[in-house]
Amino acid sequence: MADAETAVEFIPGDLAPGDAKSLELDRRELDVTRVGSGHDPLFVLAYERLWNEFGPLQEMESREVIERRLAWHPATKQGDCWLRYDLVLVRRQGQFIAVRDHTAIVTDKRGSPQAVVHLSHVLVDVEWRRTGLAGWLRAWPVQTARARLVAAGFPPASPITLVAEMEHPDPQMPNRLNRLAAYEKAGFKKVDPAAVNYFQPDFRPPGEIDACDGPRPLPFGLILRRVGREQEQVILGAELRQIVECLYRMYGAGFREQDMAVVWRGLREYPGEDVEIPLVAPTR
Ligand SMILES: CC(C)(COP(=O)(O)OP(=O)(O)OC[C@H]1O[C@@H](n2cnc3c(N)ncnc32)[C@H](O)[C@@H]1OP(=O)(O)O)[C@@H](O)C(=O)NCCC(=O)NCCS
Repeated sequence: MADAETAVEFIPGDLAPGDAKSLELDRRELDVTRVGSGHDPLFVLAYERLWNEFGPLQEMESREVIERRLAWHPATKQGDCWLRYDLVLVRRQGQFIAVRDHTAIVTDKRGSPQAVVHLSHVLVDVEWRRTGLAGWLRAWPVQTARARLVAAGFPPASPITLVAEMEHPDPQMPNRLNRLAAYEKAGFKKVDPAAVNYFQPDFRPPGEIDACDGPRPLPFGLILRRVGREQEQVILGAELRQIVECLYRMYGAGFREQDMAVVWRGLREYPGEDVEIPLVAPTR
């Protein structure tokens, strides 16, 4: 029997509303593996692919940070959150097809349990794009979230939110628009950037940050899928703060406090708890 901690299943009910095409994908020869640690022979393949794609854009954490996250297995406690990091590799006959990584952050800080999953990176080999595979890569984080909720003693039906940080659209950068279009078609929504300025903390190594004039957080859009609530058009300020707090707790487990302080300060400027913030199309 598959090990519940390591097996990755194709669960149709976890697909996003716009990802029905994924049901048609022939999955028989796909080998889906969770990379267990930095010593796993598949780690180098998975990390290298991510680094080559995202490293030059300053969007990939260092190998040391990723190895530390893998060492959280099965989960680690950061303040009042449980964190679980997954690095998932898809191969066919030993050949690379896709890789994704994400972190489930489980908390009951505000009295009711919930899981926020940070979708860090996803990369599909060019030959496998628009085949439906990307839909499964968007669905697997729901599985991680449910497993972590259960492991923390919470109901698996607790609210789950998937969150991706994405660059703002730029007509000069068609790749950016394509990836936003993919999430839009799947049914993800963007927190209106006219209402909220979200910043991702500085990923550079501490030495580099110190050699400059301190951390430089980057502005990103927040793309959400609130599982089961995909049709809702607004999010309350309170819920958004909880989501961003979860992200910053996750980053705080790997980055220095002094480099996180600036993004925590930014959170104070967010709309009030009862304010309804529009959710808009990701390409907007
Ligand atoms: C982003 C990525 C994972 C999306 O996967 P994908 O297999 O290309 O796209 P999807 O199957 O999810 O696309 C869904 C929809 O998005 C739109 N779309 C995707 N790629 C498009 C393109 N090149 N041109 C126009 N529309 C596109 C289409 O509407 C598509 O639906 P359709 O194929 O039924 O017409 C993949 O393109 C990729 O690996 N890109 C490089 C890395 C990256 O940008 N990662 C994301 C940020 S971490």
